[in-house]
Amino acid sequence: MKIAVIGVGYVGLVSGVCLAEVGHDVTCVDLDAQKIDKLNQNIVPIFEPGLSEMVATNRETGRLHFTTDLEDALKGAEAAFIAVGTPSRERDGHADLSYIYAAAKSIAEKAAKPLVIINKSTVPVGTGDEVEEIVKSTRPDLQFDIVSNPEFLREGAAIKDFMAPDRIVVGVESEHAQKVLAEIYAPFAQKNYPILYVNRRTSELTKYAANSFLALKLAYINEVAELCEVVGADIKGVSKGIGLDPRIGEKFLNAGPGYGGSCFPKDTLALVRTAQDHERPLRLIEMIVSINEYRKRAMSRKIAQMCENEVKGKKIAILGLTFKPNTDDMREAPSISIIQGLQDMGAEIYAYDPEGMENAKHILKDVTFCDSALACIDQADAMVIVTEWDEFRDLPFAEIKKKMRKPVLVDLRNLYDGQPLKAEGFDYQCVGRPL
Ligand code: UGA
Repeated sequence: MKIAVIGVGYVGLVSGVCLAEVGHDVTCVDLDAQKIDKLNQNIVPIFEPGLSEMVATNRETGRLHFTTDLEDALKGAEAAFIAVGTPSRERDGHADLSYIYAAAKSIAEKAAKPLVIINKSTVPVGTGDEVEEIVKSTRPDLQFDIVSNPEFLREGAAIKDFMAPDRIVVGVESEHAQKVLAEIYAPFAQKNYPILYVNRRTSELTKYAANSFLALKLAYINEVAELCEVVGADIKGVSKGIGLDPRIGEKFLNAGPGYGGSCFPKDTLALVRTAQDHERPLRLIEMIVSINEYRKRAMSRKIAQMCENEVKGKKIAILGLTFKPNTDDMREAPSISIIQGLQDMGAEIYAYDPEGMENAKHILKDVTFCDSALACIDQADAMVIVTEWDEFRDLPFAEIKKKMRKPVLVDLRNLYDGQPLKAEGFDYQCVGRPL
C-alpha cells in the first residue's frame, strides 16, 4: 500500500522505515529540509540500534522515500500517518497539539483522493474528533477517516518493538478505516501479533493508561527501595519476589534515580490535566508525578551524603547522562536534576556519556565533558553511575581507585555487586540495598 508518514521524528522515522520493511511503499515527509537531505544520504539523525541499516536497505529497494513535499507524498497514498510531536505545554502541562492540528490542515489541503488519516502521535482523548473537524472544514469535498493508532515503542528497542509488537491498538470509527488498517498490518496479523480494534477514544486513552501504569510501577518500586535502605532489606530481592507473581510481572521493577525520557513525564502530566478538566482527578497519577520529581532531586542529596555532606568545590564524576542506555536522548533525564542539585550545592561536575554528550551540551551548563569514563573520574571526589550503559559494567576498578581523589562510588542503577568493591577499598552506595 502507498503510505505517507508526516513528521520524521523518532516515532515517524521508525514507523515509516518498519512499514517499508514489511513491504509498503512509504514516503516520509518533514518540513526540516536539512534532515530530509541527510536521510536521502542514509544519514540518520537519531541514535537507534539497527535504524541506519534499515533506512539504507529500504531506500535501495525503492520502498522508502524522504521528501519535504507533502503534496508529492500524498499522491496515490491511501493512508497518511501523523507522527509529529506533542510536547508538554509549559504554562499548564497539557499536551501541545498545535503540530497535530497544523499537520491535519496541511494534509486536508493537499490530499488528492480518499484518505485514511492515522494519528500515531500521543494525543489526549478526543483529539481525533478535533482533527476530524479540522479536515472537514478545510476540505468539505474530501472523503476521509480519522484513526487512532498509538505507538508503544521503547527508545533503544524501537525496531524490535515495531517488528515484533506485544499488541497493535487501532481506534476506528468506520468499517472502511478498519479494512485499510487491517491491510497495513496484515504482515503482522500473519505472524499472529495481536491487533486490537477499539473505538477511537479508547485507543487514545489506552496509550496514556499504559505509560502511566508503567510510571506507577517505577514510582512504587523506588519508594519501596527507600524503605529497604532504612530497614536493611534488598530491593533486588523484593523486586524478584514480587515480580514472579504473574499478576505483578518481573519487568519494570528496577529501582533507580527516577524515570525520565520524552514520554513518561509528559504523558503522566497530560493525563492528570485531562482528568482534572473532566473533574475526575486521577489522584494516584498526580502522586506519581510528584514522587518522581522528588526522587530525582533526592538523588543529589544522597550523593552529597556520601561526600560527608559537603560537595562544595569537590569534583563529582557523573557517568551516564541520557535518560536510559542505548539512546542519545537527554529529554527529562534524571541526570539533569541531579547535576543541577549538585551544582546548587557548589560541586564541580565532570561528565561522560557514550552517546548523549552532544545533546547534553545544549542542556547542561558549567559541566566539563570528558572523552571517557577514566578521564572523567581522574582526581574525582566521587563517581556516580546515573545511566546503566553496558560499558560501565566492567570498569577497571583497581585503576580507578588509584586515579580518584576519594574512592566514593554512588551506583544509582544497582549495576555492581557491592562486596568486591568494598573489599577493593571503595566507599560504595547503591539504591535500596543494604551496605
Ligand atoms: C516508554 C514506554 O516504555 C514505551 O512503551 C512507550 O511507547 C514510550 O515510552 C512512548 O510513549 O513513546 P521509553 O520512554 O523509550 O519508552 O523508555 P523506557 O524504557 O520505558 O524507560 C523510561 C524510564 O524508566 C527511563 O528513565 C528508565 O531508566 C526508567 N526505568 C525503566 C527504570 O528506572 N527502571 C526500570 O525497571 C525500567
